[in-house]
Amino acid sequence: MALVASGSAQANQTISNADLSERVQTSDEWIRTRTGIQSRRVSTPDESLNDLAIRAGAKALEMAHWEPDTLDMVLLATSTPDDLFGSAPKVQAGLKAHNAVAFDLTAACSGFLFALVTAAQYLRTGAMQRVLVIGADQLSRFVDWDDRSTCVLFGDGAGAVALEATSAEADGLLGFRLRSDGSRGHSLTLPQIPTSLPLVNTTRHQCGGYLPIQMNGQEVYKFAVREVPAILKELLEQTSTTPEQLDWLLLHQANQRILDAVADRFSIPHSKVLSNLANYGNTSASTIPLMLDEAVRDGRVAPGHLLASSGFGAGLSWGAALLRWQGPA
Ligand SMILES: CC(C)(COP(=O)(O)OP(=O)(O)OC[C@H]1O[C@@H](n2cnc3c(N)ncnc32)[C@H](O)[C@@H]1OP(=O)(O)O)[C@@H](O)C(=O)NCCC(=O)NCCS
Repeated sequence: MALVASGSAQANQTISNADLSERVQTSDEWIRTRTGIQSRRVSTPDESLNDLAIRAGAKALEMAHWEPDTLDMVLLATSTPDDLFGSAPKVQAGLKAHNAVAFDLTAACSGFLFALVTAAQYLRTGAMQRVLVIGADQLSRFVDWDDRSTCVLFGDGAGAVALEATSAEADGLLGFRLRSDGSRGHSLTLPQIPTSLPLVNTTRHQCGGYLPIQMNGQEVYKFAVREVPAILKELLEQTSTTPEQLDWLLLHQANQRILDAVADRFSIPHSKVLSNLANYGNTSASTIPLMLDEAVRDGRVAPGHLLASSGFGAGLSWGAALLRWQGPA
């Protein structure tokens, strides 16, 4: 599987820390020092998750110089679909990828990494030749904008990568590890509203709908700074790679302190840590491809570069992948 091209899309509105301090009791200083976030992008009411995903996917196709109808699959990693039955088919139609099967994959902030590894399996078996993996989320829909402990952290966005089948020697997915632990899932949830309504006679039914994001920030922080270094260590050992061989560390963008702590654990210089969360906050499944696309387009990530990537978040779920960026032909 080769990583051929990338694309991304930003939500329309920019909300600064100062803007948020007009809504909740917080400050630019608190948010910057605790998280590294300076502003985030929030979708307007007329901007759908599908819009973001289609824009990001179209840019990746354009960079790859691929006609949309040459795609075999569109895999959409999202926890915030426009339609609970699945948003990927609408994205496929919007991209005019008429020959592609399309479905959603949900694994919160690990979603993109899980989707990338899933896509690689189809490409490696020869079942497919070209796949578009899109990570897109609009967590702004599910944030309680009056809860200062969560609302400062999240934003909306989308990122995409175009993947192509390749020989085993040229495979750009050099190794991966994926983990889940539902027993710790309570520390970060977007749960159903518990309901019990009369149906007929003595029967009752539930009603669909979600509470805002619920998070124990300290538990999630401890989880990230323990599990991300551990899984990256496993990945490096599995692939006989040293931290010095890495060109970039491409982590899920949740908190600058988490990025710095992980880099320090491996003595990776901070100049090799890709970070754009100052401008976007945590955009869930979209952070990794959004960051990758930015770094590809400004020339930091170049063909042949080796990247260690790790996603982590609700589930709990986490994973790591060693990637070699190929770029377009
Ligand atoms: C959320 C997070 C930034 C909070 O930082 P922290 O240092 O743990 O802060 P605490 O939760 O201990 O809160 C410290 C104080 O700041 C206050 N506080 C919380 N949010 C605040 C805000 N936005 N502005 C000002 N004060 C705030 C708290 O009420 C608390 O006040 P108290 O001491 O009077 O009770 C941090 O825990 C974190 O980043 N966790 C990981 C979250 C994450 O990445 N989630 C997504 C994973 S995919």
